[in-house]
Amino acid sequence: MSQQRQLPYSVILLILGFTFIIYLVSPTTLLNLFYGEFDPYLSADRKVVVYEKMIEALRNMDKYCKDRRFYCKRPETRHVDCRRVLRGDKAYLQSLTGINRIPLIENPFLNLTCSAIKNRIIPKSSQFKLLMLNGTAFARIVFADYEFIEKQVQASYHPQNFFCFAVDANSSAEFQKRMKALERCLPNVFVLPVTESYDSKGHNINLAHYNCMKRLEASRGWGYLMLLQNHDVITKSVYELDRIFDLLAGANDVFMSKEIPGRRNKHSKWDLKSLRLFRNESRNSDYELEISSGFVQASLSRAVVEWLVNEVDVSILLQQFPEYGADEQFISTFQSNQDFKMPGHFTNECFHNDTSVSFISRFSRWVPINLERSSNCASGTVRHDICIFGIEDFLAVSKYPTLSFNKMLPAFDFSIIECTAELLHNRTYLGQRDYNLEDDIYKNLVSVQYHENHKKSDYKLNCTSNFKPWNYLDYL
Ligand SMILES: *[C@@H]1O[C@H](CO)[C@@H](O)[C@H](O)[C@H]1NC(C)=O
Ligand SMILES: *[C@@H]1O[C@H](CO)[C@@H](O)[C@H](O)[C@H]1NC(C)=O
Ligand SMILES: *[C@@H]1O[C@H](CO)[C@@H](O)[C@H](O)[C@H]1NC(C)=O
Ligand SMILES: *[C@@H]1O[C@H](CO)[C@@H](O)[C@H](O)[C@H]1NC(C)=O
Ligand SMILES: *[C@@H]1O[C@H](CO)[C@@H](O)[C@H](O)[C@H]1NC(C)=O
Ligand SMILES: *[C@@H]1O[C@H](CO)[C@@H](O)[C@H](O)[C@H]1NC(C)=O
Ligand SMILES: *[C@@H]1O[C@H](CO)[C@@H](O)[C@H](O)[C@H]1NC(C)=O
Repeated sequence: MSQQRQLPYSVILLILGFTFIIYLVSPTTLLNLFYGEFDPYLSADRKVVVYEKMIEALRNMDKYCKDRRFYCKRPETRHVDCRRVLRGDKAYLQSLTGINRIPLIENPFLNLTCSAIKNRIIPKSSQFKLLMLNGTAFARIVFADYEFIEKQVQASYHPQNFFCFAVDANSSAEFQKRMKALERCLPNVFVLPVTESYDSKGHNINLAHYNCMKRLEASRGWGYLMLLQNHDVITKSVYELDRIFDLLAGANDVFMSKEIPGRRNKHSKWDLKSLRLFRNESRNSDYELEISSGFVQASLSRAVVEWLVNEVDVSILLQQFPEYGADEQFISTFQSNQDFKMPGHFTNECFHNDTSVSFISRFSRWVPINLERSSNCASGTVRHDICIFGIEDFLAVSKYPTLSFNKMLPAFDFSIIECTAELLHNRTYLGQRDYNLEDDIYKNLVSVQYHENHKKSDYKLNCTSNFKPWNYLDYL
């Protein structure tokens, strides 16, 4: 019904838009337009201005989203039928990729009043069920794309959940202003004081997450914490996350591997005494820390966060970690040192044997330069050797066992971000069941089995889980 009502608006706006272009440029351009060559004399910046005007106009006369239980898509992506993509309609997919791929056009007039922010994040007449673990917490380091960030809060919103943000000191003033507006508006959103800058080399990333841990630890509730980066997208609903973390039963989910050579500062001392790692000095022996390399993203039980904040002092360790890649060896180092007895820890025995165990907190597709792009990255777009997910990945997003996808970029493809948010909305608020969470996968993770059994006298570690490692291509 609203579709039909929409159509005239769009047509009027298109005409308005074209008139605007004609008004701006010479009549030759007008001719070119009718020959199908789109405004060749208009600079990219000018085009953006035109689009923004059109979109802003659309937004203002938009009644589509009022008073509805359904997910409200932006004008840019209003035409995208996520369900059709979910049905595996490959022909339809072509109308959303290539030249038709839809980037997010930032809204410079975003309404930042508290009621507007709340309206966007919390659906009207939403009813929440209590979570088994009393909530999930998310610690995310952010530097750009406020509307994308707000969308991630929306997709994982639950009154029992907590969202902590560390904002890059080098991010734009506008971005920082928007993040502060978000914090002011919702009691379960924290934005840390903006004190340092983060970058892809890993500077200050651990510190940011650690500061979020300290902030979150003071809040009651929540059972698990997820450590995230700016463009990670959670792909499980709040209730699915709650279920999965319940199945982990206290085990952490952290990727661990042998230390990547060359990342350690050789001139620093790495024994516990020099690091003054434990607050209880008598635990600080001459034992030299075994470092493990992993990822920034991880899921930690509340007990770990309390342990990291109260039992150890990581200030020397964090200062001493080398410049490059330090962000990827903080949590994994603690997780793999079984002697530290961090709650929910694992062991170094599997990676010593060159066996890596399944990890669910983050999924990314590595596409090093020697690999063929098209067969290793559905969108064909790779940045820093990582595939940028596009709408082509939506089917996999809906079923793949991991909890988050890294990365989706709003400036590249907003459809996949919008469709993922719609999917989670449907699962959270409309009870949509489009896929069955496989409890067995999570219960039988090697780290979960280890956590459950390692104190038993007859326990023998087996680094291979009883399910087949999942293959992404089977999910596409
Ligand atoms: C912002 O949103 C609020 C609540 O939805 C509304 O009352 C207000 O008029 C809006 N402000 C502007 C400038 O659109
Ligand atoms: C959740 O909170 C309730 C009420 O505070 C408490 O009784 C319960 O033990 C909590 N559950 C967990 C898993 O922490
Ligand atoms: C912030 O950005 C400026 C300019 O791009 C750069 O010179 C500076 O080093 C950055 N600061 C940090 C802490 O990265
Ligand atoms: C400190 O550690 C030692 C050795 O592990 C232990 O015996 C002692 O009880 C601990 N002290 C405190 C205050 O926890
Ligand atoms: C590691 O490898 C050794 C030698 O192959 C084997 O004996 C041991 O059981 C393995 N450990 C684990 C935890 O798989
Ligand atoms: C979400 O639910 C609405 C209403 O039932 C439906 O139209 C839409 O296709 C669903 N989207 C997805 C991604 O399942
Ligand atoms: C480890 O577990 C896997 C899967 O359950 C099984 O196939 C394998 O035989 C086990 N290995 C050992 C040494 O028990």
